Amino acid sequence: MTENGVTSRRGKVLTIDTINPSVKKVEYAVRGPIVQRAVQIEKELKEGAKKPFTEVIKANIGDAHAMGQQPITFFRQVLALCSYPELLDDPSFPEDAKSRARRILQSCGGRSIGAYSASQGIDCVRQDVARYIERRDGGIASNPDNIYLTTGASDGIVTILKLLVCGEGRTRTGVMIPIPQYPLYSAALMELDATQISYYLNEDSCWSLDISELRRSLAAAREHCNPRALCIINPGNPTGQVQSRQCIEDVIQFAAEEHLVLMADEVYQDNVYADGCQFHSFKKVLFDMGPEYSNTVELMSFHSTSKCYMGECGFRGGYMEVINMDPAVKEQLTKLVSVRLCPPVTGQALMDLVVNPPQPGEPSYTTFLKERSATLNVLAEKAKLTEKILNTVPGITCNPVQGAMYSFPKISIPERAVQEAKEKGVAPDMLYCMNLLEETGICLVPGSGFGQRDGTYHFRMTILPPTDKLKVLLDKVKEFHQHFTQQYS
Ligand SMILES: Cc1ncc(COP(=O)(O)O)c(C=O)c1O
Repeated sequence: MTENGVTSRRGKVLTIDTINPSVKKVEYAVRGPIVQRAVQIEKELKEGAKKPFTEVIKANIGDAHAMGQQPITFFRQVLALCSYPELLDDPSFPEDAKSRARRILQSCGGRSIGAYSASQGIDCVRQDVARYIERRDGGIASNPDNIYLTTGASDGIVTILKLLVCGEGRTRTGVMIPIPQYPLYSAALMELDATQISYYLNEDSCWSLDISELRRSLAAAREHCNPRALCIINPGNPTGQVQSRQCIEDVIQFAAEEHLVLMADEVYQDNVYADGCQFHSFKKVLFDMGPEYSNTVELMSFHSTSKCYMGECGFRGGYMEVINMDPAVKEQLTKLVSVRLCPPVTGQALMDLVVNPPQPGEPSYTTFLKERSATLNVLAEKAKLTEKILNTVPGITCNPVQGAMYSFPKISIPERAVQEAKEKGVAPDMLYCMNLLEETGICLVPGSGFGQRDGTYHFRMTILPPTDKLKVLLDKVKEFHQHFTQQYS
Protein backbone atom coordinates (compact mmCIF):
# COMPACT_ATOMS: atom_id res chain seq x y z
CA MET A 1 0.00 0.00 0.00
CA THR A 2 1.49 3.31 -1.01
CA GLU A 3 0.43 6.67 0.28
CA ASN A 4 2.51 9.83 -0.28
CA GLY A 5 5.33 7.62 -1.41
CA VAL A 6 5.45 5.83 1.92
CA THR A 7 4.76 2.14 1.96
CA SER A 8 2.66 0.93 4.82
CA ARG A 9 2.53 -2.75 5.60
CA ARG A 10 -0.67 -2.34 7.55
CA GLY A 11 -3.98 -0.94 6.31
CA LYS A 12 -5.69 2.13 7.70
CA VAL A 13 -6.55 2.15 11.39
CA LEU A 14 -9.88 3.70 10.62
CA THR A 15 -11.93 1.86 8.03
CA ILE A 16 -15.64 1.61 7.45
CA ASP A 17 -15.52 -1.73 9.28
CA THR A 18 -13.63 -0.41 12.28
CA ILE A 19 -15.31 2.91 13.02
CA ASN A 20 -17.81 3.32 15.84
CA PRO A 21 -20.76 1.21 14.58
CA SER A 22 -23.27 3.63 16.10
CA VAL A 23 -21.97 6.38 13.82
CA LYS A 24 -22.68 4.26 10.76
CA LYS A 25 -26.30 3.84 11.81
CA VAL A 26 -26.90 7.59 12.11
CA GLU A 27 -29.17 9.09 9.44
CA TYR A 28 -30.01 12.75 8.86
CA ALA A 29 -32.43 13.17 5.99
CA VAL A 30 -32.44 16.97 5.96
CA ARG A 31 -28.97 16.89 4.42
CA GLY A 32 -29.29 13.41 2.86
CA PRO A 33 -28.97 11.98 -0.69
CA ILE A 34 -31.60 14.29 -2.24
CA VAL A 35 -29.67 17.33 -1.10
CA GLN A 36 -26.39 15.87 -2.32
CA ARG A 37 -27.96 15.32 -5.73
CA ALA A 38 -29.39 18.87 -5.68
CA VAL A 39 -25.91 20.29 -5.15
CA GLN A 40 -24.61 18.18 -8.02
CA ILE A 41 -27.43 19.37 -10.31
CA GLU A 42 -26.63 22.99 -9.45
CA LYS A 43 -23.06 22.34 -10.54
CA GLU A 44 -24.23 20.70 -13.77
CA LEU A 45 -26.46 23.70 -14.51
CA LYS A 46 -23.53 26.06 -13.95
CA GLU A 47 -21.47 24.00 -16.39
CA GLY A 48 -24.18 24.52 -19.01
CA ALA A 49 -26.10 21.21 -18.77
CA LYS A 50 -29.54 21.37 -20.36
CA LYS A 51 -32.34 20.51 -17.93
CA PRO A 52 -36.11 21.06 -17.94
CA PHE A 53 -35.48 23.88 -15.40
CA THR A 54 -32.92 26.62 -14.93
CA GLU A 55 -32.45 26.63 -11.17
CA VAL A 56 -32.71 24.36 -8.16
CA ILE A 57 -35.20 25.62 -5.56
CA LYS A 58 -34.23 24.32 -2.15
CA ALA A 59 -37.01 23.87 0.37
CA ASN A 60 -35.30 21.09 2.28
CA ILE A 61 -33.91 22.86 5.30
CA GLY A 62 -35.09 25.49 7.76
CA ASP A 63 -32.29 27.90 6.90
CA ALA A 64 -34.08 31.23 6.52
CA HIS A 65 -31.16 33.43 5.51
CA ALA A 66 -30.06 30.96 2.86
CA MET A 67 -33.53 31.48 1.37
CA GLY A 68 -33.14 35.26 1.29
CA GLN A 69 -34.60 36.32 4.66
CA GLN A 70 -32.92 39.52 5.81
CA PRO A 71 -31.29 39.82 9.22
CA ILE A 72 -32.59 42.22 11.87
CA THR A 73 -30.49 45.37 11.45
CA PHE A 74 -30.03 46.00 15.18
CA PHE A 75 -28.69 42.49 15.78
CA ARG A 76 -26.08 42.81 13.09
CA GLN A 77 -25.10 46.32 14.19
CA VAL A 78 -24.41 45.16 17.73
CA LEU A 79 -22.55 42.08 16.50
CA ALA A 80 -20.45 44.26 14.17
CA LEU A 81 -19.64 46.58 17.07
CA CYS A 82 -18.72 43.65 19.30
CA SER A 83 -16.50 42.15 16.62
CA TYR A 84 -14.79 45.41 15.67
CA PRO A 85 -15.02 47.80 18.65
CA GLU A 86 -13.36 50.64 16.72
CA LEU A 87 -16.80 51.10 15.18
CA LEU A 88 -18.01 52.34 18.57
CA ASP A 89 -16.65 55.73 17.45
CA ASP A 90 -18.59 55.61 14.19
CA PRO A 91 -21.51 58.09 14.33
CA SER A 92 -23.57 56.05 11.89
CA PHE A 93 -24.33 53.40 14.52
CA PRO A 94 -27.27 54.14 16.84
CA GLU A 95 -26.56 54.77 20.51
CA ASP A 96 -28.64 51.85 21.77
CA ALA A 97 -26.63 49.44 19.60
CA LYS A 98 -23.43 50.92 21.00
CA SER A 99 -24.49 50.68 24.63
CA ARG A 100 -25.59 47.09 24.09
CA ALA A 101 -22.24 46.23 22.51
CA ARG A 102 -20.34 47.91 25.36
CA ARG A 103 -22.30 45.90 27.91
CA ILE A 104 -21.57 42.63 26.15
CA LEU A 105 -17.88 43.48 25.69
CA GLN A 106 -17.55 44.42 29.35
CA SER A 107 -18.68 40.89 30.23
CA CYS A 108 -16.11 39.29 27.92
CA GLY A 109 -12.60 38.27 28.98
CA GLY A 110 -10.18 41.04 27.96
CA ARG A 111 -13.26 42.88 26.62
CA SER A 112 -13.01 40.79 23.48
CA ILE A 113 -15.64 38.63 21.86
CA GLY A 114 -12.72 36.42 20.85
CA ALA A 115 -12.15 35.24 24.42
CA TYR A 116 -13.61 32.04 25.86
CA SER A 117 -16.55 32.70 28.14
CA ALA A 118 -17.71 30.83 31.24
CA SER A 119 -18.83 27.37 30.12
CA GLN A 120 -22.43 27.89 31.14
CA GLY A 121 -22.40 31.15 29.18
CA ILE A 122 -21.77 34.83 29.86
CA ASP A 123 -23.37 35.89 33.16
CA CYS A 124 -25.20 38.95 31.91
CA VAL A 125 -26.61 37.00 28.95
CA ARG A 126 -27.94 34.30 31.26
CA GLN A 127 -29.53 37.00 33.39
CA ASP A 128 -31.17 38.52 30.32
CA VAL A 129 -32.42 35.08 29.24
CA ALA A 130 -33.97 34.56 32.68
CA ARG A 131 -35.69 37.95 32.52
CA TYR A 132 -36.99 37.15 29.02
CA ILE A 133 -38.48 33.89 30.26
CA GLU A 134 -40.12 35.71 33.16
CA ARG A 135 -41.70 38.27 30.81
CA ARG A 136 -42.77 35.56 28.39
CA ASP A 137 -44.34 33.45 31.13
CA GLY A 138 -46.25 36.19 32.91
CA GLY A 139 -43.83 36.71 35.77
CA ILE A 140 -43.03 33.12 36.78
CA ALA A 141 -39.53 33.32 38.26
CA SER A 142 -36.55 32.11 36.25
CA ASN A 143 -33.18 31.61 37.89
CA PRO A 144 -30.10 32.49 35.77
CA ASP A 145 -28.34 29.56 37.46
CA ASN A 146 -30.75 27.27 35.61
CA ILE A 147 -29.86 28.78 32.23
CA TYR A 148 -27.16 27.22 30.08
CA LEU A 149 -26.20 28.92 26.85
CA THR A 150 -25.67 26.41 24.07
CA THR A 151 -24.30 26.02 20.56
CA GLY A 152 -27.73 26.18 18.96
CA ALA A 153 -30.55 24.13 20.46
CA SER A 154 -29.03 20.95 18.98
CA ASP A 155 -26.14 21.07 21.41
CA GLY A 156 -28.40 21.46 24.45
CA ILE A 157 -30.65 18.61 23.35
CA VAL A 158 -27.73 16.24 22.76
CA THR A 159 -26.12 17.23 26.08
CA ILE A 160 -29.28 16.37 28.02
CA LEU A 161 -29.63 13.09 26.14
CA LYS A 162 -26.05 12.27 27.12
CA LEU A 163 -26.94 12.82 30.78
CA LEU A 164 -29.90 10.49 30.45
CA VAL A 165 -28.48 7.47 28.70
CA CYS A 166 -27.32 4.48 30.73
CA GLY A 167 -28.06 0.79 31.39
CA GLU A 168 -27.82 -2.33 29.28
CA GLY A 169 -30.38 -4.54 27.54
CA ARG A 170 -33.78 -4.13 29.15
CA THR A 171 -32.49 -1.39 31.41
CA ARG A 172 -31.08 0.68 28.53
CA THR A 173 -32.51 4.19 28.50
CA GLY A 174 -35.44 4.76 26.20
CA VAL A 175 -36.48 8.22 25.03
CA MET A 176 -39.94 8.98 23.69
CA ILE A 177 -39.93 11.08 20.53
CA PRO A 178 -42.74 12.11 18.21
CA ILE A 179 -43.15 10.54 14.81
CA PRO A 180 -42.80 12.37 12.51
CA GLN A 181 -39.82 13.96 14.26
CA TYR A 182 -36.95 16.30 13.61
CA PRO A 183 -34.18 13.77 12.84
CA LEU A 184 -31.70 15.26 15.31
CA TYR A 185 -33.52 13.15 17.89
CA SER A 186 -33.32 9.78 16.14
CA ALA A 187 -29.73 10.51 15.06
CA ALA A 188 -28.57 11.48 18.55
CA LEU A 189 -30.27 8.46 20.12
CA MET A 190 -28.65 6.20 17.56
CA GLU A 191 -25.24 7.73 18.19
CA LEU A 192 -25.67 7.27 21.94
CA ASP A 193 -26.98 3.75 21.41
CA ALA A 194 -30.13 4.61 23.34
CA THR A 195 -33.58 3.23 22.53
CA GLN A 196 -35.93 5.35 20.46
CA ILE A 197 -39.51 5.09 21.64
CA SER A 198 -41.80 6.35 18.90
CA TYR A 199 -45.14 7.92 19.64
CA TYR A 200 -47.21 8.84 16.61
CA LEU A 201 -48.80 12.24 16.13
CA ASN A 202 -52.37 12.15 14.87
CA GLU A 203 -52.39 13.35 11.27
CA ASP A 204 -56.19 13.21 11.10
CA SER A 205 -56.50 15.85 13.78
CA CYS A 206 -53.85 18.27 12.63
CA TRP A 207 -50.90 16.31 13.99
CA SER A 208 -52.19 16.54 17.53
CA LEU A 209 -50.66 14.58 20.37
CA ASP A 210 -53.00 12.05 21.99
CA ILE A 211 -52.24 10.94 25.52
CA SER A 212 -53.65 7.48 24.70
CA GLU A 213 -50.90 7.13 22.09
CA LEU A 214 -48.27 8.17 24.64
CA ARG A 215 -49.62 5.46 26.95
CA ARG A 216 -49.58 2.86 24.20
CA SER A 217 -46.02 3.56 23.14
CA LEU A 218 -44.73 3.74 26.72
CA ALA A 219 -46.34 0.44 27.70
CA ALA A 220 -44.86 -1.27 24.64
CA ALA A 221 -41.41 0.20 25.33
CA ARG A 222 -41.37 -0.93 28.95
CA GLU A 223 -41.16 -4.49 27.65
CA HIS A 224 -37.66 -3.91 26.30
CA CYS A 225 -36.07 -0.76 27.72
CA ASN A 226 -36.18 1.77 30.53
CA PRO A 227 -38.14 4.84 29.37
CA ARG A 228 -36.77 7.93 31.09
CA ALA A 229 -37.63 10.96 28.98
CA LEU A 230 -40.33 12.39 26.77
CA CYS A 231 -39.42 14.84 24.00
CA ILE A 232 -41.96 17.30 22.63
CA ILE A 233 -41.46 19.63 19.69
CA ASN A 234 -43.84 22.57 19.89
CA PRO A 235 -44.50 24.21 17.44
CA GLY A 236 -43.75 21.08 15.48
CA ASN A 237 -41.09 20.21 12.97
CA PRO A 238 -41.78 18.72 10.42
CA THR A 239 -45.52 18.80 11.08
CA GLY A 240 -46.19 22.50 11.78
CA GLN A 241 -48.76 21.97 14.56
CA VAL A 242 -49.14 24.16 17.64
CA GLN A 243 -50.17 22.37 20.81
CA SER A 244 -53.14 23.52 22.82
CA ARG A 245 -52.70 24.50 26.45
CA GLN A 246 -54.84 21.57 27.50
CA CYS A 247 -52.64 19.16 25.59
CA ILE A 248 -49.51 20.52 27.27
CA GLU A 249 -51.14 20.14 30.67
CA ASP A 250 -52.05 16.53 29.86
CA VAL A 251 -48.49 15.82 28.72
CA ILE A 252 -47.07 17.26 31.93
CA GLN A 253 -49.46 15.19 34.00
CA PHE A 254 -48.48 12.10 32.02
CA ALA A 255 -44.76 12.79 32.55
CA ALA A 256 -45.37 13.28 36.27
CA GLU A 257 -47.37 10.05 36.60
CA GLU A 258 -44.90 8.04 34.56
CA HIS A 259 -41.83 9.58 36.14
CA LEU A 260 -40.29 10.92 32.92
CA VAL A 261 -37.97 13.85 32.26
CA LEU A 262 -39.65 16.32 29.90
CA MET A 263 -37.63 17.84 27.08
CA ALA A 264 -39.52 20.72 25.43
CA ASP A 265 -38.07 21.84 22.12
CA GLU A 266 -39.50 25.31 21.73
CA VAL A 267 -37.26 26.74 19.03
CA TYR A 268 -40.27 27.92 16.99
CA GLN A 269 -41.93 29.79 19.83
CA ASP A 270 -42.54 32.97 17.78
CA ASN A 271 -43.62 31.07 14.66
CA VAL A 272 -47.36 30.76 15.24
CA TYR A 273 -49.65 31.74 12.36
CA ALA A 274 -53.05 30.09 12.59
CA ASP A 275 -56.06 31.89 14.06
CA GLY A 276 -56.90 30.55 17.48
CA CYS A 277 -53.43 29.10 18.04
CA GLN A 278 -51.05 30.45 20.61
CA PHE A 279 -47.67 29.40 21.92
CA HIS A 280 -47.76 28.14 25.51
CA SER A 281 -44.42 27.36 27.07
CA PHE A 282 -44.13 24.10 29.01
CA LYS A 283 -42.57 26.09 31.85
CA LYS A 284 -45.60 28.36 32.21
CA VAL A 285 -48.12 25.54 32.06
CA LEU A 286 -46.05 23.53 34.55
CA PHE A 287 -46.09 26.38 37.05
CA ASP A 288 -49.77 27.13 36.45
CA MET A 289 -50.49 23.54 37.45
CA GLY A 290 -49.28 24.26 40.97
CA PRO A 291 -46.48 23.11 43.28
CA GLU A 292 -47.36 19.42 43.06
CA TYR A 293 -46.01 19.60 39.51
CA SER A 294 -43.78 22.69 39.46
CA ASN A 295 -41.71 21.40 42.38
CA THR A 296 -41.22 17.94 40.98
CA VAL A 297 -41.37 17.51 37.20
CA GLU A 298 -37.91 17.70 35.65
CA LEU A 299 -38.28 19.97 32.63
CA MET A 300 -35.58 21.01 30.19
CA SER A 301 -36.65 23.53 27.57
CA PHE A 302 -34.67 24.67 24.53
CA HIS A 303 -34.57 27.81 22.44
CA SER A 304 -32.36 29.03 19.63
CA THR A 305 -31.31 32.01 17.53
CA SER A 306 -31.82 29.90 14.40
CA LYS A 307 -35.60 30.13 13.98
CA CYS A 308 -38.51 32.51 14.73
CA TYR A 309 -37.98 35.89 13.02
CA MET A 310 -34.20 35.77 13.49
CA GLY A 311 -33.23 32.83 11.30
CA GLU A 312 -29.63 33.31 12.39
CA CYS A 313 -28.68 29.63 12.11
CA GLY A 314 -25.00 30.19 11.42
CA PHE A 315 -24.26 31.98 14.69
CA ARG A 316 -25.10 28.81 16.62
CA GLY A 317 -26.78 30.57 19.54
CA GLY A 318 -29.19 28.93 21.95
CA TYR A 319 -30.07 28.31 25.54
CA MET A 320 -31.69 25.71 27.74
CA GLU A 321 -33.47 26.18 31.03
CA VAL A 322 -33.34 23.25 33.44
CA ILE A 323 -36.07 23.01 36.06
CA ASN A 324 -36.09 20.67 39.07
CA MET A 325 -32.79 19.11 38.14
CA ASP A 326 -31.13 17.40 41.08
CA PRO A 327 -28.24 19.66 42.24
CA ALA A 328 -25.72 16.80 41.99
CA VAL A 329 -26.83 16.16 38.40
CA LYS A 330 -26.61 19.84 37.64
CA GLU A 331 -23.01 19.76 38.79
CA GLN A 332 -22.36 16.93 36.36
CA LEU A 333 -24.09 18.90 33.59
CA THR A 334 -21.92 21.92 34.31
CA LYS A 335 -18.84 19.69 34.24
CA LEU A 336 -19.94 18.15 30.95
CA VAL A 337 -20.38 21.52 29.24
CA SER A 338 -17.05 22.74 30.67
CA VAL A 339 -15.20 20.05 28.76
CA ARG A 340 -16.17 21.82 25.55
CA LEU A 341 -15.13 25.20 26.98
CA CYS A 342 -17.99 27.40 25.82
CA PRO A 343 -20.57 28.01 23.09
CA PRO A 344 -19.53 30.53 20.42
CA VAL A 345 -19.44 33.93 22.09
CA THR A 346 -20.91 35.65 19.01
CA GLY A 347 -23.85 33.25 19.31
CA GLN A 348 -24.20 34.13 22.98
CA ALA A 349 -24.15 37.84 22.14
CA LEU A 350 -26.86 37.28 19.55
CA MET A 351 -28.96 35.27 22.01
CA ASP A 352 -28.68 38.24 24.35
CA LEU A 353 -30.13 40.55 21.72
CA VAL A 354 -32.97 38.17 20.97
CA VAL A 355 -34.01 38.03 24.61
CA ASN A 356 -33.35 41.72 25.17
CA PRO A 357 -34.28 43.52 21.94
CA PRO A 358 -34.65 47.32 21.56
CA GLN A 359 -37.24 48.77 23.92
CA PRO A 360 -39.87 51.49 23.28
CA GLY A 361 -38.19 54.89 23.27
CA GLU A 362 -34.79 53.55 22.14
CA PRO A 363 -33.54 54.70 18.71
CA SER A 364 -33.68 51.24 17.11
CA TYR A 365 -37.09 50.23 18.43
CA THR A 366 -39.28 51.24 15.48
CA THR A 367 -37.06 49.65 12.85
CA PHE A 368 -36.71 46.49 14.95
CA LEU A 369 -40.46 46.15 15.32
CA LYS A 370 -41.05 46.81 11.63
CA GLU A 371 -38.48 44.22 10.54
CA ARG A 372 -39.68 41.63 13.02
CA SER A 373 -43.35 41.94 12.06
CA ALA A 374 -42.57 42.04 8.35
CA THR A 375 -40.72 38.71 8.56
CA LEU A 376 -43.38 37.03 10.70
CA ASN A 377 -46.24 38.39 8.54
CA VAL A 378 -44.66 37.08 5.35
CA LEU A 379 -44.15 33.67 6.97
CA ALA A 380 -47.80 33.63 8.02
CA GLU A 381 -48.90 34.44 4.44
CA LYS A 382 -46.65 31.73 3.05
CA ALA A 383 -47.98 29.20 5.56
CA LYS A 384 -51.54 29.85 4.29
CA LEU A 385 -50.51 29.90 0.65
CA THR A 386 -48.72 26.56 0.97
CA GLU A 387 -51.67 24.84 2.60
CA LYS A 388 -54.11 26.33 0.09
CA ILE A 389 -52.24 25.35 -3.07
CA LEU A 390 -51.20 21.88 -1.90
CA ASN A 391 -54.78 21.05 -0.97
CA THR A 392 -55.92 21.76 -4.54
CA VAL A 393 -53.88 18.82 -5.81
CA PRO A 394 -55.77 15.51 -6.04
CA GLY A 395 -53.68 12.98 -4.12
CA ILE A 396 -52.08 15.52 -1.78
CA THR A 397 -53.60 16.38 1.59
CA CYS A 398 -52.09 18.94 3.81
CA ASN A 399 -52.87 20.00 7.37
CA PRO A 400 -52.82 23.72 8.15
CA VAL A 401 -49.33 25.05 8.85
CA GLN A 402 -50.26 26.40 12.28
CA GLY A 403 -46.69 27.23 13.17
CA ALA A 404 -42.96 26.57 12.66
CA MET A 405 -41.70 26.66 9.05
CA TYR A 406 -42.81 23.47 7.36
CA SER A 407 -45.60 21.65 5.64
CA PHE A 408 -45.71 17.87 5.80
CA PRO A 409 -48.41 16.84 3.31
CA LYS A 410 -49.52 13.30 2.73
CA ILE A 411 -49.01 12.14 -0.85
CA SER A 412 -50.61 9.21 -2.58
CA ILE A 413 -48.07 7.10 -4.43
CA PRO A 414 -49.36 4.61 -7.03
CA GLU A 415 -48.68 0.92 -6.36
CA ARG A 416 -46.40 0.63 -9.41
CA ALA A 417 -44.17 3.38 -8.08
CA VAL A 418 -44.08 1.65 -4.68
CA GLN A 419 -42.98 -1.55 -6.46
CA GLU A 420 -40.31 0.28 -8.44
CA ALA A 421 -38.98 1.88 -5.27
CA LYS A 422 -38.81 -1.53 -3.62
CA GLU A 423 -36.85 -2.92 -6.55
CA LYS A 424 -34.43 0.00 -6.31
CA GLY A 425 -34.14 -0.44 -2.54
CA VAL A 426 -35.36 3.06 -1.72
CA ALA A 427 -38.40 4.37 0.16
CA PRO A 428 -41.30 5.24 -2.16
CA ASP A 429 -41.29 8.89 -1.09
CA MET A 430 -37.54 8.99 -1.75
CA LEU A 431 -38.24 7.86 -5.31
CA TYR A 432 -40.93 10.55 -5.54
CA CYS A 433 -38.65 13.31 -4.25
CA MET A 434 -35.73 12.20 -6.43
CA ASN A 435 -37.94 12.24 -9.55
CA LEU A 436 -39.30 15.62 -8.51
CA LEU A 437 -35.77 16.97 -8.22
CA GLU A 438 -34.63 15.56 -11.56
CA GLU A 439 -37.71 16.81 -13.42
CA THR A 440 -38.33 20.17 -11.79
CA GLY A 441 -35.24 21.17 -9.80
CA ILE A 442 -37.24 21.26 -6.57
CA CYS A 443 -35.47 19.90 -3.53
CA LEU A 444 -37.71 18.52 -0.76
CA VAL A 445 -37.14 15.86 1.90
CA PRO A 446 -38.99 12.51 1.81
CA GLY A 447 -41.29 11.85 4.76
CA SER A 448 -39.43 8.62 5.46
CA GLY A 449 -36.55 10.74 6.78
CA PHE A 450 -38.75 11.94 9.65
CA GLY A 451 -40.73 8.77 10.30
CA GLN A 452 -44.37 8.19 9.35
CA ARG A 453 -47.04 5.53 9.76
CA ASP A 454 -46.35 2.47 7.64
CA GLY A 455 -48.01 2.65 4.25
CA THR A 456 -48.30 6.45 4.31
CA TYR A 457 -46.03 8.75 2.34
CA HIS A 458 -45.18 12.39 2.80
CA PHE A 459 -42.67 15.03 1.97
CA ARG A 460 -41.48 17.93 4.03
CA MET A 461 -41.08 21.34 2.48
CA THR A 462 -40.13 24.58 4.15
CA ILE A 463 -42.23 27.69 3.61
CA LEU A 464 -39.05 29.77 3.49
CA PRO A 465 -38.47 30.47 -0.23
CA PRO A 466 -39.45 34.04 -1.21
CA THR A 467 -43.18 34.25 -2.06
CA ASP A 468 -42.69 34.38 -5.85
CA LYS A 469 -40.40 31.33 -5.76
CA LEU A 470 -42.69 29.53 -3.35
CA LYS A 471 -45.56 29.97 -5.83
CA VAL A 472 -43.42 28.57 -8.63
CA LEU A 473 -42.41 25.69 -6.39
CA LEU A 474 -45.99 24.86 -5.42
CA ASP A 475 -47.20 25.03 -9.01
CA LYS A 476 -44.39 22.74 -10.10
CA VAL A 477 -45.15 20.26 -7.31
CA LYS A 478 -48.79 20.30 -8.43
CA GLU A 479 -47.88 19.61 -12.04
CA PHE A 480 -45.32 16.99 -11.07
CA HIS A 481 -47.71 15.12 -8.78
CA GLN A 482 -50.29 14.83 -11.55
CA HIS A 483 -47.64 13.67 -13.99
CA PHE A 484 -46.11 11.18 -11.54
CA THR A 485 -49.53 9.72 -10.76
CA GLN A 486 -50.31 9.26 -14.48
CA GLN A 487 -46.87 7.86 -15.22
CA TYR A 488 -47.24 5.08 -12.65
CA SER A 489 -50.99 4.37 -12.97
C1 LIG B 1 -37.31 21.25 16.22
C2 LIG B 1 -35.89 21.66 16.09
N1 LIG B 1 -35.08 21.57 17.14
C3 LIG B 1 -33.80 21.92 17.08
C4 LIG B 1 -33.26 22.40 15.91
C5 LIG B 1 -31.81 22.76 15.88
O1 LIG B 1 -31.63 24.12 15.81
P1 LIG B 1 -30.24 24.84 16.13
O2 LIG B 1 -29.84 25.51 14.86
O3 LIG B 1 -30.60 25.81 17.21
O4 LIG B 1 -29.28 23.82 16.60
C6 LIG B 1 -34.05 22.51 14.77
C7 LIG B 1 -33.49 22.96 13.49
O5 LIG B 1 -34.10 22.94 12.46
C8 LIG B 1 -35.41 22.14 14.87
O6 LIG B 1 -36.22 22.22 13.82
